[in-house]
Amino acid sequence: MFQTPDLFKNSQIYERYKGWHGVQAHIPVMVAETLELLAPAPGKKILDCTVGAGGHAAEILKRIQPGGLLIGLDRDPRMLEQARAFLKEEGFPDNSLRLFPFSYERFDEAFAQETGTEPKLFDGILFDLGVASPHLDQAERGFSWNKEGPLDFRFDAAQKLTAFDVVNKWRESELRRVFKEYSDERFSGAMARRICKEREVRIIKTTTQLADILRKSIPSRLRSPHRDHVQTAFQAIRIAVNDELGIFEKTLPKALSFLAENGVCAVLAYHSKEDRVSKIVFAEAAGKKGTGMFEILTKKPLMATNEEIRRNARARSARLRAIRRKPADSQSSNKEVK
Ligand SMILES: C[S@@+](CC[C@H](N)C(=O)[O-])C[C@H]1O[C@@H](n2cnc3c(N)ncnc32)[C@H](O)[C@@H]1O
Repeated sequence: MFQTPDLFKNSQIYERYKGWHGVQAHIPVMVAETLELLAPAPGKKILDCTVGAGGHAAEILKRIQPGGLLIGLDRDPRMLEQARAFLKEEGFPDNSLRLFPFSYERFDEAFAQETGTEPKLFDGILFDLGVASPHLDQAERGFSWNKEGPLDFRFDAAQKLTAFDVVNKWRESELRRVFKEYSDERFSGAMARRICKEREVRIIKTTTQLADILRKSIPSRLRSPHRDHVQTAFQAIRIAVNDELGIFEKTLPKALSFLAENGVCAVLAYHSKEDRVSKIVFAEAAGKKGTGMFEILTKKPLMATNEEIRRNARARSARLRAIRRKPADSQSSNKEVK
């Protein structure tokens, strides 16, 4: 059974990332557990699909030298620049790192473009899904329900669809589906109705206008004390704008096919639907009674310790799952058993 390692204390991680260059930097989540599963070692080739501010990437890079390579992707070019500056300052050699401002669904293309060859097999693949802290902290990105900003919510500013379009142009039934499907919202119908009513009178332009409309759509006596309905509705719209679940569902099985023997894929999810996708894809890859080409390393998803949650509230919703490609000889013996 997996044991939470004592590689280093989360407090060290916290001190290191909490205030990089005066920016409220993103504090990477469940780093020790993720490293234990991915087992980065000198010479390994690792794909970080969501490099963000570079926190996990830095810890991986430290362990794959000499001779290792980290390919890092982020759909948000601004996050990627932050990661590039941070990793440069950390002094990692240029040839140990390649960063691409691509959505991870294009991971194979990114690598092939760089090397001019077919994508090679990876020893480790990491997905740390969702937003990074700077997204929520920068009001102008419009991700935050409690900061005045435009209705944007895009990771990639080159993308056409914005939250403004979803909120002002999508049909009531579509809005209801978004709230229901992506946030399991009991009041999805009331929220969708209220938005459509409001937009008959005026265009909904800002995050605080939207938050206000959402808040008013649920009578206060019916609001759950255990959930912030506005926050989860914002998250649902963000997932719709960026097609986060669709892209993840499509990419995870493909990513597994790029794992080398003994290579591990780890997924940190912050949303129950994303965690469910990992669970289902991993179960299919492992096959019935372990007859598949992969072995699940986390029977149940790992969660952050109370100590980590105390220091970094974002870790509260994290669920970590991992799967390993079996060596070829064990795969053939599995087939015989079958
Ligand atoms: C939780 S953060 C990653 C944090 C990172 N592990 C760190 O330690 O700093 C998630 C990142 O994924 C990026 N992202 C979201 N969807 C993406 C996609 N389809 N392809 C690539 N990056 C994506 C976001 O821009 C964000 O920077």
